[in-house]
Amino acid sequence: MSATIHPFDGGASGDAGGARVLQPGLDVSHGQMLYLEDITVSFDGFRALNKLTLYIGQGELRCIIGPNGAGKTTMMDVITGKTRPDSGTAFFGQTLDLTRMTEPQIAQAGIGRKFQKPTVFEAMSVYDNLELAMKTQKSVWASLKARLSGEERDRIDATLQRIRLKNEYLRPAGLLSHGQKQWLEIGMLLMQEPLLLLLDEPVAGMTDAETDATAELFLELANKHTLMVVEHDMGFVGKIADKVTVLHEGSVLAEGSLDEVQANERVIEVYLGR
Ligand SMILES: Nc1ncnc2c1ncn2[C@@H]1O[C@H](COP(=O)(O)OP(=O)(O)O)[C@@H](O)[C@H]1O
Ligand SMILES: [Mg+2]
Repeated sequence: MSATIHPFDGGASGDAGGARVLQPGLDVSHGQMLYLEDITVSFDGFRALNKLTLYIGQGELRCIIGPNGAGKTTMMDVITGKTRPDSGTAFFGQTLDLTRMTEPQIAQAGIGRKFQKPTVFEAMSVYDNLELAMKTQKSVWASLKARLSGEERDRIDATLQRIRLKNEYLRPAGLLSHGQKQWLEIGMLLMQEPLLLLLDEPVAGMTDAETDATAELFLELANKHTLMVVEHDMGFVGKIADKVTVLHEGSVLAEGSLDEVQANERVIEVYLGR
């Protein structure tokens, strides 16, 4: 039996994409999407990550919290190939060794990353931003075909719906609110059909209404995608969290439900004790 997975399995209504497999090779036969084991990253002798071990299951919506400097962004840098660990192992599925892949190879394998600052093309319309994101994934030959297929238009429409920008599709992205720009960038990632999405402080600077809508969006994305969300906003984390991992000084301090980690004495000490 094939152990490969399907990024858009069990498609509920309005799926961005319909059935397709980005990477027929990703082996998640053990149910885990990401394996980080004993990862150490040093900067001039300072350990930003210190034997970090963390697993993310397929379809999980994992929240990562921890004080500033805990190593959250560095962890995402390791997963995306931006930073090479000094030691330790990082695997995507059973077989893809992330420490031996380039950043483009990792993106191609199905790991999408959303940085804190939105990087949409401000002069282009919302629709054109999504179209461009879809095309950059394709072969040169496919991109040369000028017209979008019906299926491609359906994918863009479904993504517009998903990211709550259906009524804004003709607007230049530069005229969107901060929160809408964040959604557009998430939509651009979705056009590339990632299996694992890394989101670094996605609701920073959003209004309360935008934050609530983002929580709904992430809950819709989970299962079909695996999400790793770094966020300081505990109200937001409480709305979406299944399992929460607390990082501190480059290692996992605690893991569990939000209630569990918030009741953990070591966590309380780290957050309040200095
Ligand atoms: N490129 C770098 N050079 C030197 N130190 C770094 C670098 N990147 C991160 N650090 C340090 O590593 C630690 C972890 O940083 P970071 O991963 O950004 O933490 P977080 O995202 O949890 O706030 C911090 O002390 C930071 O100053
Ligand atoms: Mg950070």
